[in-house]
Amino acid sequence: MDKETIEVLVGKALEAREKAHAPYSKYKVGAALLAKSGAIYTGCNVENASYGLTVCAERVAICKAVSEGEKDFLAIAVVTSNGAPPCGACLQVMAEFVADFSSFQVILVNAEKQWRVLTLKELYPFGFTSRFLWEK
Ligand code: THU
Repeated sequence: MDKETIEVLVGKALEAREKAHAPYSKYKVGAALLAKSGAIYTGCNVENASYGLTVCAERVAICKAVSEGEKDFLAIAVVTSNGAPPCGACLQVMAEFVADFSSFQVILVNAEKQWRVLTLKELYPFGFTSRFLWEK
């Protein structure tokens, strides 16, 4: 992933973070998902007074993309105050749409725009995928 593409994704994720609805945790998250088509889908966390109904920024971006007909992805940038990794639920939803965990890039960004790149393989090394449903 070239630096220019990373910077575009970081910029879009920062913008998306501005839209976060996080009145309870105050922990704003923004995501920007790059599809193989070149399209970028953004998301922010959307909290609810019934806390368990909260949806994370990454899953908002993925659901937006899939609902627009995209299912092949290259990378996702995630901005938080402190550059935290995606939660387990989001890693599992990424896993659903990523054939090769080693090539999918997760760009972790903090509020100072400092970023680091990890692969889905590094973040979720023994992830559950559909192959376990069929394999004996
Ligand atoms: N959150 C995300 O948006 N993505 C993650 O991967 C982890 C957590 C949100 C959910 C909630 O609104 C807030 O961060 C605190 O957990």
